[in-house]
Amino acid sequence: MKELIKELSNAKTTQDLDNIKSKWLGKKSELRAKFDALKDASASKRQKIGAELNTERAKIEELIENAKSEIAMRILNKQLANDNFDMTLPGIGGAVGALHPVTIIEEKCISALRRLGFVPVEGPEVETPEYNFDLLDIPKHHPARDAQDTFWIKKEELLPRTHTTSVQSRYMMDLKGDESKLPIKIVSPGRTYRNEAIDANHLAIFHQFEGLWVGHDVKISELKGTIGFILKEIYGNDIKVRFKPKFYPYTEPSIGADILTDRGWITIVGAGMVSPQVMKNFGFDPDRVSGFAFGFGTSRLAAEFAGTNMREIYGMDLRVFKNIKGVK
Ligand code: DAH
Repeated sequence: MKELIKELSNAKTTQDLDNIKSKWLGKKSELRAKFDALKDASASKRQKIGAELNTERAKIEELIENAKSEIAMRILNKQLANDNFDMTLPGIGGAVGALHPVTIIEEKCISALRRLGFVPVEGPEVETPEYNFDLLDIPKHHPARDAQDTFWIKKEELLPRTHTTSVQSRYMMDLKGDESKLPIKIVSPGRTYRNEAIDANHLAIFHQFEGLWVGHDVKISELKGTIGFILKEIYGNDIKVRFKPKFYPYTEPSIGADILTDRGWITIVGAGMVSPQVMKNFGFDPDRVSGFAFGFGTSRLAAEFAGTNMREIYGMDLRVFKNIKGVK
């Protein structure tokens, strides 16, 4: 053993260790010869000597293993000493992700509206003309139905919805005119599709955010209050909002709201009181039941929030998102 220890302490490389190992444990080692000799020993001796040889082998292996870790440590220390490794240098930071502006706007709208008692619901993106148009009193000759605006599927039997107002139709039709289910307050964010001429602020796929409050004695003042509340939630109390008259076939009266931006006033929502005819289409008595609906242009709100245009917020250039106000 002493000789082994001496050899090990002289070893400098892992190659030296391999040589030592084969000398002490290999086929031609003394130890192996002793093991081989066991077969000629008597049974009782064989057991005793066998156990001793096993212990000896374990000891040799242990000494070699220890020497191996020492050499590895020595090599590493030498490398570290030679490398100009400056532990005080700052590390390379990983890129930190953030929510997409559309998601931010949707979450802000939903959390504001939840506080007013609205519940989020979803509708399908592929619709029938009934829910997307007919029930909303958008007649066949109306420009919104024109082939220019709608991506028709299957000979005008189906379409990717042109607005989230289709969710309003679905939800109302599910109530089957049952007044005991009122009031209902729902919101529905989602993707919408139009066969648009594309530019920086008009895309074929964009997002809208629909809201509907139907009950007894729902007033337009509540509609205006709700829109103002949401806009303040998104942009803060200083946001300038103005309302204006608009036309939608399914609301009467219809209004729009603009916000004041660096680019002047931009329209961000269409809304109105659900028209008596549409109320009837949904199976409710317009003399007893009233309601309002609104459809925010989520993509437009998001582009404004991010300080850019719509095309950019749907693009893949992450630099656009770096300086978004209010986003860390
Ligand atoms: N659907 C309209 C649009 O896409 C927005 C809208 C207007 C939604 C009036 C409504 C509404 O629910 O009542 O421009």
